[in-house]
Amino acid sequence: MALLTKAVRGTGDVLPANSYKNRFIESTMLEIAGNFGFKEIRTPVFEHTELFNRSVGETTDVVQKEMYTFDDNGGRSITLKPEGTAGAVRAFLEHGLYNEPMPQKYSYVTPCYRYEKPQAGRLREFHQFGVECFGADAPSADAEVIALAKNIFDFFGIDDLHLEINSIGCPECRKNYQNALKAYFSEKKGELCETCNGRLDRNPMRILDCKSPICSVIAADAPKILDYICDDCAAHFAKVQKYLDVMGIEYTVNPSIVRGLDYYTRTVFEFVTGSIGAQSTVCGGGRYDGLVEELGGPKTAACGFAVGLERFMMLLEARNIELPAENPVDLYIASMSDDANLVAAKLASEVRETGVACLFDTVGRSLKAQMKYANKTGVLFTVVLGSDEIEKGVAKVKCMADGTETEIELEDFANNFIKISIDKAMESLTPDDGAVNFLGGLN
Ligand code: HAM
Repeated sequence: MALLTKAVRGTGDVLPANSYKNRFIESTMLEIAGNFGFKEIRTPVFEHTELFNRSVGETTDVVQKEMYTFDDNGGRSITLKPEGTAGAVRAFLEHGLYNEPMPQKYSYVTPCYRYEKPQAGRLREFHQFGVECFGADAPSADAEVIALAKNIFDFFGIDDLHLEINSIGCPECRKNYQNALKAYFSEKKGELCETCNGRLDRNPMRILDCKSPICSVIAADAPKILDYICDDCAAHFAKVQKYLDVMGIEYTVNPSIVRGLDYYTRTVFEFVTGSIGAQSTVCGGGRYDGLVEELGGPKTAACGFAVGLERFMMLLEARNIELPAENPVDLYIASMSDDANLVAAKLASEVRETGVACLFDTVGRSLKAQMKYANKTGVLFTVVLGSDEIEKGVAKVKCMADGTETEIELEDFANNFIKISIDKAMESLTPDDGAVNFLGGLN
């Protein structure tokens, strides 16, 4: 039975009491991305396994250890997406979007799946907000996606995310670097974990982000990529920094950042925080100029990032950052009899058509129990219908905040109610409320 009533390890529910926060965060992020010209793309939650093998990379932890892969009933190997970039690139190719004016800029919110050891900030099902920009190889494009991430963090008032950047060069300059790494790690072969021993010949760069404690210690003293990048890549990286400087974005160059996915070239970056424990990277991204071609498309520069939404929410909580409250229910129409409840149903339909959030009794409860429920639900106004009210065509709307009652004609109920609620709102409005309500309106 326990299996029936417990979510799978590393997954979680977002309950109705909290889901408005996710909705607010996701829609705000998409909206801010829209200000930078990014439009939402939605891709399937699963793809052919080969897509991730080729893009994320055969020697990465994600592909070697963490993918949810299964054969479907048609015998195809399918994988639940471990990240959002590969699907966006696949869609870019499948729909010939490279024929559209460049750059093409996409944003997304997506669930992702990685079979990792669950801990705070590390889940097996998690969610990413991400952006991908195709067809822009200039350093200004790297700076622009970084500026977008920063803009989002600033909007939410997060002040302790630190930007770290690096360049991991192009495939050409990386050849020399791979050789230097091979030489360095070969001397410590006996101490490396089994997976990293396998990586030594195929892709020694992957040893740099191995999560095993011994490999991490060895990797800390490994040669640094910045000492090996070619003149073009160095100039590109210097220009990215120039753009960040003029945009007033603070950063540290961290030569140890290599990222855990194989498709990156040149700029890589992470936003890290000291507020949420060991899983401190809230956002990661970079340039991946070779991926579109690698998957069979035309040579297309690209860059982007993804924010882990669960880590982002942990950070909001850790910093005591409050989100606008959920919009309350405007009106509860209580009824004293079956007949009155029929009228309540009719009036509820009328007001809902005008966008008013309205509830009426669907349980067959006593008036007292209805009012108790309305109170608990936090409705703004209540109205009680009995035979008297229906006969006279007039009822009393009660403002729950101050207990005042206003008569309302049941004829043209929706418009009359809106007038009353606007009057009440104006009465209680202070300049501060104005700002809060405006933000609430974004909800
Ligand atoms: P990533 O660094 O693998 O990059 O993931 C991005 C973010 O997703 C991380 O910084 C973290 O916040 C969150 N994340 C990753 N794994 C987990 C997990 N197991 N549990 C909770 N959160 C997690 C990418 O996925 C790239 N596709 C980003 C990108 C887009 N690069 C270019 N475009």
